[in-house]
Amino acid sequence: MTDHVLTEIKDRILTITFNRPDKKNALTHAMYAKIADALEDAETNDDVRAVLFKSSAEAFTAGNDLIDFQQAGSHDGSEVSELPVARVLRAFVNAEKPYVAAVNGVAVGIGLTMLLHCDIVYVAEEATIQAPFVDLALVPEAASSMLLPRLTGHVKAAEIFMLGKKVGADEAVSIGLANGKCSQEDLLPTAEKAAAALASKAPQAIRMTKRLMRGDKEVLGAKMQEENIYFGQQLKSPEVMEAIMAFMQKRAPNFG
Ligand code: COA
Repeated sequence: MTDHVLTEIKDRILTITFNRPDKKNALTHAMYAKIADALEDAETNDDVRAVLFKSSAEAFTAGNDLIDFQQAGSHDGSEVSELPVARVLRAFVNAEKPYVAAVNGVAVGIGLTMLLHCDIVYVAEEATIQAPFVDLALVPEAASSMLLPRLTGHVKAAEIFMLGKKVGADEAVSIGLANGKCSQEDLLPTAEKAAAALASKAPQAIRMTKRLMRGDKEVLGAKMQEENIYFGQQLKSPEVMEAIMAFMQKRAPNFG
């Protein structure tokens, strides 16, 4: 069976590669579990001084696998905080080691959420970033409902979260979601260079600086919990079922 997430530790960099190209790197429970294992290990592993997210195909990630969402919603007992994705989101919020992302194509949902938890981000010229949570009748996650407006201001964040607006490479740079845009060819080398530079710095100073820059983890954690409550309620709602069915049937949703 193909390994849908590849992890490698080399030269003090943990590289996490999304590797499910036929589904645009949509993330399943099993993929989240592997990502969570790697991120949790990275925090305590002295061999890791930086984390690099990349993807093996032209898409970065199409976000959460919608079939998994559908199943999580229809399964009565599952709480959002118990799903493997929640471990990943907690790892983002609690991260102290620096994160770098190389966004080579479409980045949807958690693909955007992740960038708000990265320290250095490069996007390919053709990358588009999108958080259609409301289009799926869901809400933002991992404290992104606080982090994105903090970065862009409320109205720009509302365009992205509420209208589901796609952000291209230039806009991603101008609103502070990305450090720069690169050609496909230059993207990975540029991101790898940044990860190598971070990995060569004084590790304690990097961790302390990240902690200082991100502010109070309890505030981020509390926002994430609030989001989880709404997310969990919505996941079981008829609105979400309709949104996902509409995606599967390649038609517009009808929310009545
Ligand atoms: N979950 C499950 N399958 C997904 C998926 C997802 N999030 N995103 C894409 N896929 C699947 C498609 O169903 C399709 O499968 P098929 O070939 O068996 O029909 C395949 O991946 C390719 O997707 P397609 O839509 O044909 O590619 P595209 O290049 O036209 O569009 C996207 C790419 C990412 C813009 C589009 O697939 C999309 O909007 N996906 C949903 C994104 C989403 O809502 N994610 C959840 C965010 S919280």
